[in-house]
Amino acid sequence: MEHKQLKVFPKSFLWGSASAAYQVEGAWDTDGKGPSVWDNFVRIPGKTFAGTNGDIAVDHYHQYPQDVALMSELGLSAYRFSVAWSRIYPLGNGEINQAGLDFYDRLINELVEKGIEPIVTLYHWDIPQALQDQYGGWESRQIVDDFVRYAKTLFVHFSDRVKYWVTMNEQNVFISHGYKTAMHPPGVRDEKRMYQANHHANLANAAAIVAFRSLGCPGKIGPSFAYGPNYSIDANPENVLAAENAEAFDAHFWMDVYARGEYPPQVWQWLVDNHLAPDVYPEDAILLKQGIPDFMGVNYYRTMTNAYNPLDGVGIEQMNTTGKKGTAQESGLPGVYKHVRNPHLQRTNWDWDIDATGLRIGLRRIASRYQLPVMVTENGLGEYDTLTDDLQINDDYRIDYLNEHALAVQQAISDGVEVLGYCTWSFTDLLSWLNGYQKRYGFVYVDRDENSAKSLTRYKKKSFYWYQEVIRSHGATL
Ligand code: BG6
Repeated sequence: MEHKQLKVFPKSFLWGSASAAYQVEGAWDTDGKGPSVWDNFVRIPGKTFAGTNGDIAVDHYHQYPQDVALMSELGLSAYRFSVAWSRIYPLGNGEINQAGLDFYDRLINELVEKGIEPIVTLYHWDIPQALQDQYGGWESRQIVDDFVRYAKTLFVHFSDRVKYWVTMNEQNVFISHGYKTAMHPPGVRDEKRMYQANHHANLANAAAIVAFRSLGCPGKIGPSFAYGPNYSIDANPENVLAAENAEAFDAHFWMDVYARGEYPPQVWQWLVDNHLAPDVYPEDAILLKQGIPDFMGVNYYRTMTNAYNPLDGVGIEQMNTTGKKGTAQESGLPGVYKHVRNPHLQRTNWDWDIDATGLRIGLRRIASRYQLPVMVTENGLGEYDTLTDDLQINDDYRIDYLNEHALAVQQAISDGVEVLGYCTWSFTDLLSWLNGYQKRYGFVYVDRDENSAKSLTRYKKKSFYWYQEVIRSHGATL
């Protein structure tokens, strides 16, 4: 659909940028913080690229005043960050650690003072290790009560200043990598356990939303979903069916539960047939229906292209975590779909398809399937950056990527989608969970690498000035 003229971004539209506690904070055992599963997982040899960890990360815990000053200089209207659960409850469900609350108080106050809207993610993958040890973390229903207690603590403490809340970041990613590919903690390969853990995460998400409303907190709350809209490789009906399967298994399976309180029937049938269906109690269905979010958060990086995959076809993915282009392998769900190379799209050095139109398509699909406003809670390009001798970072490739994706958001708005805001990933460079520090996303370059924390000096990239203009013009320069 071509528009003669695009709609302008709504007045209240948030121009943001995002991060996650483990990827930026460092200070992993400072001021009473308990260990999270990631603090331990990164110490298992071979789990992360070049053995990188977030012990120091980019030291945001100590350098947040400088980082917020840079956000203010850029002109951000929102900053999305996550709270480390084990800073607030070092054991997950025991005593509160006041120093943890104090840190986020300082950060939030600094943001509010600078006119930057805080968007707070309750959970970005760093479950307290103590809960993993006590009852197996997400595998136990006990997690629901503990997650709600933690969420309520944050709601009560911060909702005078925080109006946007993200319950969970990319449940589809932390559950699949935690229990299927074993690339994230707890590093398990067991699909039965995966679907049960996933069901508990669904319950925790819904219960936190219900708690938010029962406390009468002002503002909006919703999950952030990692959505890679699915295409068919061609018009062969077998491939089209595979793409529909991929959409059902990789997107509706999560978003239908969030937005409709129901599992999609074809996936549920497959789970039953394969003896993988989780235990669902009658009261679960009621809770899931009560916990419908105010918006759907979308983390968008790429689309997925699909083809028929026979029962003895390809399975679990081999990810490219080295940045050596062309090393990703075909993957899929045997008998259901496989992801294949899209000949129409360029790829990054980490083999992610670059597809701005896919963002527009994804936003439209969500709006029409769920009738919910959408917030783009992450979008960005992970690439190598070079600090030149005269201390410049000329990241034109990132500017191109972000410009066309922000434009795709404006096109989706012009198509009739309600979009609350756009958060790039990320503000400063940060730790990529599996890809170390060489896969960079930020507007602000941080002087550190896999081998050493170096000076941690911040340098503004060319994209910093590009986004500054976009925000200053409220999108007119796109
Ligand atoms: C999202 C996560 O999956 O993508 C972020 O929410 C993550 O935490 C980002 O860093 C980019 O992924 P990666 O693997 O390139 O770091």
